[in-house]
Formats: sequence, C-alpha cells, structure tokens
Amino acid sequence: MMNYDWLFRLRRAILVGLVILSTTFMSVADEGMWIPTLLKKYNMDDLQRLGFRLSADDVYSVNHASLKDAVVLFGGGCTGEVISSEGLVLTNHHCGYSSIQSLSSVENNLLKSGFWAKSRSEELYSPSLKVRFLERMEEVTDKITSNLESLSKAQQKEKIQERILSLTQELETDLFTEAVVKPILYGNQYFLYVYKVYKDIRLVGAPPSTIGKFGGDTDNWVWPRHTGDFSMFRIYANTDGSPSEYSDDNIPLKTKTFLKIKLGKLEKGEPTMVIGYPGKTQLYLPSPAINMYQTTSFPTRINIRDIKLSTWKNFMDKDPKIEIQYASKYARTANGWKKWKGAILGLSRFHAIERKKDAEKKFQLWVDSEPERKKSYGSILPRFDSLYAQFAIYNERHIYYQEVVERGADLFQLSTILNSFIHDKDKGILVDQTSLLNKIDKFYNDYNPVVDAEVMMQLLSLYIDSVAPEFYGKSLYKIRDKLNDKYFVKKVYNKSFLLDKESVKDFVVNYSRSERSKLTKDPIFKLKYEMDQTYVFTSFFKYQYINEQIEANQKSYVKALKEMNGRTRFKVDANLTMRVSYGSIEGYSPKDGVIYRPFTSLKGIFEKSQTDIMDYTVPQKLIDLYKSKDFGNYINEEGQVPVAFCASNHTTGGNSGSPVLNRDGYLIGVNFDRCWDGTMSDLMFDPQYCRNIILDIRYVLFLIDKFSNAPNLIDELEIVQ
Ligand code: ARG
Ligand code: ASP
Repeated sequence: MMNYDWLFRLRRAILVGLVILSTTFMSVADEGMWIPTLLKKYNMDDLQRLGFRLSADDVYSVNHASLKDAVVLFGGGCTGEVISSEGLVLTNHHCGYSSIQSLSSVENNLLKSGFWAKSRSEELYSPSLKVRFLERMEEVTDKITSNLESLSKAQQKEKIQERILSLTQELETDLFTEAVVKPILYGNQYFLYVYKVYKDIRLVGAPPSTIGKFGGDTDNWVWPRHTGDFSMFRIYANTDGSPSEYSDDNIPLKTKTFLKIKLGKLEKGEPTMVIGYPGKTQLYLPSPAINMYQTTSFPTRINIRDIKLSTWKNFMDKDPKIEIQYASKYARTANGWKKWKGAILGLSRFHAIERKKDAEKKFQLWVDSEPERKKSYGSILPRFDSLYAQFAIYNERHIYYQEVVERGADLFQLSTILNSFIHDKDKGILVDQTSLLNKIDKFYNDYNPVVDAEVMMQLLSLYIDSVAPEFYGKSLYKIRDKLNDKYFVKKVYNKSFLLDKESVKDFVVNYSRSERSKLTKDPIFKLKYEMDQTYVFTSFFKYQYINEQIEANQKSYVKALKEMNGRTRFKVDANLTMRVSYGSIEGYSPKDGVIYRPFTSLKGIFEKSQTDIMDYTVPQKLIDLYKSKDFGNYINEEGQVPVAFCASNHTTGGNSGSPVLNRDGYLIGVNFDRCWDGTMSDLMFDPQYCRNIILDIRYVLFLIDKFSNAPNLIDELEIVQ
C-alpha cells in the first residue's frame, strides 16, 4: 500500500511557514533575475519556499528604507553595496581596478602594494568614478507606447524616443539626478528608473593584486576559487547629504540604510539572495539563434582571440615590461574568450538546440490551436528560420570586423579615437583636449610597437583568409600578399606617425583643418579607415536591417510566449537595471566521479601556492598569518578562514560586486564570478551546472583586520554574530 502521509506533512509544513526548513534547507536552483517592484506579485512563494524571512517591502520600498537603498550601480557596469552608516561601499577588486590603476604610479603602485587609508584624510578621490542610487522605478509602458498603432514602424520608433526624452528631461532637474527609461521583453513593456548620482567617490582600501586577483586568468571563471576580489570606496556628499562634485568640504554620506554583516556558519542548501545590476541576458532566443551562437559566433570570436592572446603572451613571457603593459588588455580579452568556451560546452551538454526545438514545437501547437493566434503568431518561427539564414553571413562579417578592426591592433584603436577627434573639430564640436591628451598618454603607456605590429599582421592575415576580397578595402587589398615582417613592418607600419606619441599629441594640440591630411594619409589610419568604410557600405547596413527585423520578430515571440505562460511569473532578460536573484548555497558535479563542495578556505590558497604558477603567488604576510593561525573569529567550523562559496543564483556580467544576502537580508558575501561549466546561463540556465561565485564576507573582514591592519574600518561595520 502506498503511503501519502509524507505528502500531507510536506504540504502542512509549507502552509505553516516552513518551520521545518529552518534547520534543513531545501536547495533549489532558480533561474531568473527578478524585477524588485514585482517580487510581491510573483516571487514571494518561492522566497518562502527557499526559507527567506524577508518581505517584498524589505527588499524594495519607496516608503521606508529597504535593501535596495544600500545597493548601488558602481561605475558603468558593476554593483556595490553600502556597509556602514558613513557611506562605505564594498565592491570587487576587478570593479575598482581601473580607479586603483589611475591612482597608481610606478613609484607608488597601489595595485601591487595594496592600499588602506588609516584615516578619512588619506582616502583618495577617484575622478570619473560615480555611484548611482535607485530612488524609484515604475512601469511606464502606457506613457511610452499608447496610441501608436496608426503610425509606421519608423514613426513609432521616433515617437517612442521623443516620449522617452521628454519624460526623462522633465525629471532630470539637476546635474545629480538621472532618469532612464528602458524597454523589457524587447519593447513590450517600458520601465522608468530615477537615480541619484554621487560623484565624489574616494578609494578607501584594496588588497594587493596577489590577493585581489589571486589566481588571475588561470582561475578566472573557475571553481574552486580563492580570489580575494574586493575593494572599498566611500561616498562623499554635501553636509546636507546631497550629491556634489569633489570638494574638500564634502563629508561621508549618511545613506538611508546600510547592510549589516553576518558572521557565522554557512550551510550547504541555505538560501542566498543577490541584488545587483546584471547587464545582459538573452533567454528567449529561438533555436536558430542558439545554433548561431554555439556553432559560429562564439567559435569565430574564440579563434580570432586565440591569435591575439597567443601573440601577446609570447611577448609578455619574455619581457616583464610588456607583461605589465599588456596585462589589462590580456585579461579583458581573455575574459570573454574563456566564458564563450565554457558556454559552447555548456550549451552542447545541455542539448540546448534540441530543448529549444522541443519548446518551439509546443509553442507552435499552442499557436495552431486557435485561428486568432494562428493569424497573429503563426509566422513567427518560420520567420526566425529565414531571418537567421539571411543573417549568417552578415553576422560573421560583423564579428570579423569587431574583433579584427574595431577591437584589433592598438593603432587601429588609436585611429578610431583620432578619427572622432578630427570629426568633432571639423564640425566645431567642443573637444575636451586635456582628457584626450590624458587618454593618449595612457594609450602609449600600454603600447609596444613591435608587439602591436605583430598582432596587426597576424589579424590581417586571418582576415584575408576568412573574409572575401570585396570586404578588404583598397589598402588591405594592395598588401594582401605581402603581410610579412619585411614588407608590412618596413613599408607600412613603420611609416605611420602614430608610432610616435609626441607627434600625435602635437597633432592634437595644433590641429587645424589644413593638417587633416597628415592623419588621413597616414598608412595605418588609412588602412583602418578604408576597412571601416568597406565594412559599413558592404555589410553593416544590411546587418542592421536584418537585426531590426529579428528584434521585431523577437518582440512578437516574447509577447506570444508571455500570453501562453498565462498569469504566472515570467522571467525578464537582464538590462543593467536592478534585479533580484535567489538560489541557495550549492556545489555541483562538473564531471563523472567529481563533486565540488560549495566552500573554499585559506588552506586552498596554500595548496595552490605550492605549484609554480605565477598567478598563485601569495604575499608573505598571508603565509605568516596562515602559519601562526592568527585568524581572529573569522573562521569556519573547521577552524579555517573561509574564502569563497558558490551558489545557484542566476547572475551575469554587471552582477560583480553584488551583495549576497542570507535569509534575513544580512550580508554574507560579495558576488564576483560564475563557474565555467555554467557560463551558458546568459542564454539558457542549467540548474545542474549554473553557479555564481561569491567571496565569503569573513575573508574580507579577516583581510581588513589581520592582513591590512585597518581596524578603523571594522569598527565602522555593524556585525551580527
Ligand atoms: N570573470 C569575471 C567577470 O566576468 C571576472 C573578470 C576579472 N578577472 C580576470 N582575471 N580577468 O567579469
Ligand atoms: N565577473 C562578472 C562581472 O564582472 C560577473 C559574471 O559574469 O558572472 O560582472
């Protein structure tokens, strides 16, 4: 006889508020990056099922301080969180990296040595860094899209832009308020976001790169992880708390609220919430699009970057100066390259195309089951097939253009900067000369002509082998058979005045229209310019045209899918607006016979340091602390300092630096990466493999307290034991 007693008990447990789960957690990987204002409507059951003891209002409210008031959009594409009543912000090391780099010099390299302000007066203003607080958000679909039906597609687009502009301009009453309207679901809905922007942001502290970037590219996207990926900044404001430009008179900002920190045991299966600014996902792509990414887009980009990376690496391994100069470019280029490799494997393991096709069959049945639907939605899927078939060649050319020309050799990138400079000058548009000259200085600091000529030669050879001659442009066509050192370097590359910093600065400072040809006749500038033009005229317009049709079809598809889904929750792609992801602390099995625990500790840093991999260099002081077991109370049950953990929150680029909260909304960690086996999650989420990687807050405090000797900062925090 079957016994259903368990079912009754389970149901009762859920009904009485999951009391049982307070000790044993139910681990549930959960796809989706949810809109804070819609949590109340769609997500509370999930949150309770997972064991959260937070209301929707605790997360987002405009009537009282809520968690959203402690989370900031940090810079242009990261997240940060306020962790003290004095405006102290925690984010990742890799999010603060360019600010820390800008504040460094050869004599005082803060990336290398680390930095800790021992008092407020030592905190370092970071020009051009901003943080944004979300004041409020609301749906504005009606305001943006009502009564447009009678207009043509182009007129609709124009009208929408007009309405967005008028709505946002009306709200941007001062220089520190930003209003943004963003579409979701491919323009089926629109949301308004109003931000308060703070511009006086100062560096408070960062560990040395041997900790903040421990594991470097070797460990990037990898679990088990041991990177101390954090840095700290402070927000300064007028004495009344309003934002202001940098001023000596500014004082630390008292925010509406800040996050309280929880030290203590973390358990496998316990719920985790990530609040942050995920940048971009595409979860509703049809099967031909997944096929395109998996078989063409990702592999093509990887192949091109293989060449860049291996060429740089050859030089970097031989020359320490080049190693520094190209470190940041290398890391940036390798980041996407490694992610796509993981995504290809993940998509194929997940049988992504077959799954999409299965879902499409169900969709088509639903469509065909009613004549009205068939009329409105019947052609969506076949249209995708034909659009993606037409798109293939333009997509491929677009990728070659982007990777070889736009983001290709250094001098190509400098050409782009100078091209927009002469364009602005000639049109009488104001140019910020000081910032341009700074940019040029920075460019040459990280530039080596021998390395760059080699990269250019290799990439152009690949371009010639992979793209049809009509897309070369005149200059490239002329030299197509002579891309060897002797010819290319002597006859083309070395003849460019762009090789010389002073000549370029001089050109900028003394520019007049009559000087224009000095640049436009330069062999490298010309080569690049012709490749730009050829690409634009032969491919880009067509690329854009088909892409717009794909987007329009995607809009209908998502509308139909939402209708099919009924009134239940419907996941929305990331678009660099505030989102909430929930999941739980969980490891995974990357392959047969291997199971990953979800926790790492200092012990692992020492295991890694025993190898001869440069990325695993550990500072002596950390070794001393480890040996003397001077851990304070920043330890786990095994007496080790915990370093990182992984969980099943759906996150993406932009979520770096996001606070990771426990069931009560206390800060337990800082999000910084994802596991390689699950980087497909920008397109499809596989609950078995998709994991985010989180820095354990205890490691952060241990480093501040014991390694960096900055107890002044610990005193500022509110710690819950
Ligand atoms: N993979 C992480 C993210 O996408 C971290 C990147 C920074 N670290 C690095 N070694 N490149 O941004
Ligand atoms: N590392 C990423 C970031 O910088 C996060 C991710 O892609 O998971 O935002």
